[in-house]
Amino acid sequence: MYNEPMLRDDALSGKTIVVTGGGTGLGRAMSTYFLKLGANVVITSRKLDVLTKAASEMQSETAGNVLPLQCDVRNPDEIETVLKSSIEAFGGVHGLLNNAAGNFISPTERLSANAFSTIIDIVLKGTANCTMAFGKHWIKEKQAGTILNIVTTYAFTGSGYVVPSACAKGGVLAMTRSLAVEWGKYGIRTNAIAPGPFPTKGAWDRLLPGDMARKFDFRNRVPLRRVGEYQELANLAAFMLSDFSGYINGEVITIDGGEWLQGAGQFNGLEAITPEMWDMLEQMTRSAKGS
Ligand code: HXC
Ligand code: NAP
Repeated sequence: MYNEPMLRDDALSGKTIVVTGGGTGLGRAMSTYFLKLGANVVITSRKLDVLTKAASEMQSETAGNVLPLQCDVRNPDEIETVLKSSIEAFGGVHGLLNNAAGNFISPTERLSANAFSTIIDIVLKGTANCTMAFGKHWIKEKQAGTILNIVTTYAFTGSGYVVPSACAKGGVLAMTRSLAVEWGKYGIRTNAIAPGPFPTKGAWDRLLPGDMARKFDFRNRVPLRRVGEYQELANLAAFMLSDFSGYINGEVITIDGGEWLQGAGQFNGLEAITPEMWDMLEQMTRSAKGS
């Protein structure tokens, strides 16, 4: 049930959505569902060969209109070209999904200044570059628009070993909430999704290389004892970009099976205690009544 399409078939019909990092992983999965829902989709990233192959497969699968365009989110000129080409191809743009990201695990003291900047440049400044280009266009043309940013749960908790990414995603979350207010008057909605673990090659190769994926099994970290299904995320993203979510603005929606809360609750580690141990502990805690 949770991996079935949720929205009705025409939910995004007539809309053009630009998805950064749309040729791989979660960006591709979300883009494919947008196509199934009738949207025109522009997928962008640095590698045109990857995008072109993905676009042709997505087109065959959905019979939708998908346009692959090379664009490094660090380059404002390339973003302007994406905007212009999307409008030329489809007559306008209605949604921007800031999904492109760069990340890797490392103790922070091992990072060079350039390593830190590289992640900030892609994730925070790249999102800002795209957001400002699209926002300025919508404001100038007096058009409504919807921005959806993919963050992570450590955007609000922080996390060691991915500190540049945590700083960048935290900044994107601040941008989401700030622009929701500032640009609301223009009919521009700005929201975010914070996914928990959804295994992709891009993320797993960089965050759980080699044997780590087995040793650091994410399923154990999630109260629901499973990782996310791409369709679950695609359902949420499609809803957030559709007019059905028209009154949601400035929200970050977590989709992680309860993962971050499991890590946060002080006593959640008691999950490891067996019923026999609970019998003993109950006696001990009851006998503390008079102390
Ligand atoms: C330490 C590293 C490093 C590593 C790169 N660097 N990898 N430092 N440990 N593992 C350093 C380099 O030495 C260099 O610094 C600087 O970072 C830039 O590296 P480049 O390779 O030149 O950068 P670039 O070609 O722009 O590639 C960016 C990248 C790469 C981020 C390093 O991994 C990439 O292209 N990633 C895109 C896809 C991606 O990351 N997907 C995962 C998203 S997952 P010096 O000083 O030597 O010049 C995600 C999930 C979150 O965000 C939550 C999951 C649960
Ligand atoms: P992914 O497949 O590696 O996706 C990252 C995408 O970003 C790639 O398509 C990559 O394409 C593109 N990209 C990287 N640098 C870019 C740049 N400078 N300019 C333009 N595009 C660039 O990994 P993913 O797991 O699907 O991640 C997608 C999003 O979900 C990211 O925002 C990530 O932080 C978020 N997320 C993922 C998880 C998870 O469990 N997978 C959890 C939480 C959040 P090119 O290499 O061709 O440029």
